[in-house]
Amino acid sequence: MSDVSRPSPAGVRTAAVIPAAGRGVRLGPGAPKALRALNGTPMLIHAVRALAASRAVSLVVVVAPPDETAEVKSLLDAHALPERTDFLVVPGGESRQESVKRGLDVLPPGYDIVLVHDAARPLVPVDTVDAVIDAVRAGAPAVVPALPLADTVKEVEPARTPGEPEPVLATPERARLRAVQTPQGFDRETLVRAHETVTDNVTDDASMVEQLGLTVVVVPGHEEAFKVTRPLDLVLAEAVLARRRLNDGF
Ligand code: CTP
Ligand code: MG
Repeated sequence: MSDVSRPSPAGVRTAAVIPAAGRGVRLGPGAPKALRALNGTPMLIHAVRALAASRAVSLVVVVAPPDETAEVKSLLDAHALPERTDFLVVPGGESRQESVKRGLDVLPPGYDIVLVHDAARPLVPVDTVDAVIDAVRAGAPAVVPALPLADTVKEVEPARTPGEPEPVLATPERARLRAVQTPQGFDRETLVRAHETVTDNVTDDASMVEQLGLTVVVVPGHEEAFKVTRPLDLVLAEAVLARRRLNDGF
């Protein structure tokens, strides 16, 4: 059972930073990925609603493609969010890491828990969001939702020329591996310190906290929290939305 439905401990407020500034190169030509439509609604709006669906989240900071900040603001104005949810829009940077940092830089005081959620994961269920928040409230400095892998994973020596056969170096034991999703949840001060300290290029925020030597914990992820990355993912996302609509009785 989630604690999030109960009143939060006095003064503990949660904000969500949503990096949405990527181009979506792997999705192919078109608008920036976060602005592409899923069943007629921009992916970013699905993602913002998914986070705002948690009663604990009272601020959403959207990190927009730099040329589309005004467009993103008007999209957010046009799509109703819950009464309790405020939003801010800031322009993103060259890398995901830089975009998240820009979101953190504008966080007002008074938010002690921060979630970082990819706009490219528009369908994350609210129960996953709440499970992450619960684990941060329970004292973990960093929490990631993750799933076991279906595929066996091999470490290889990457080919110098694309398409060349690549030698396998190792096969990590699959049962010990997890595929990590978002939202990742953090004690705010820890995440800010991680972003100030770690300068290596990373693909998620929790790994920066790992580099500080702190323990990151994993909670169960959800298959609907998959990242829309390639064209086939758009088909899957729209199928999930269609199934939800049927189940909701529309
Ligand atoms: N992101 C961002 N700023 C960047 C790069 C990425 O805010 N400079 C965001 C994306 O908008 C996305 C999330 O980080 O919501 C995860 O990144 P990814 O799925 O790789 O998206 P893109 O970088 O847009 O896609 P691609 O790598 O295919 O270009
Ligand atoms: Mg990318």
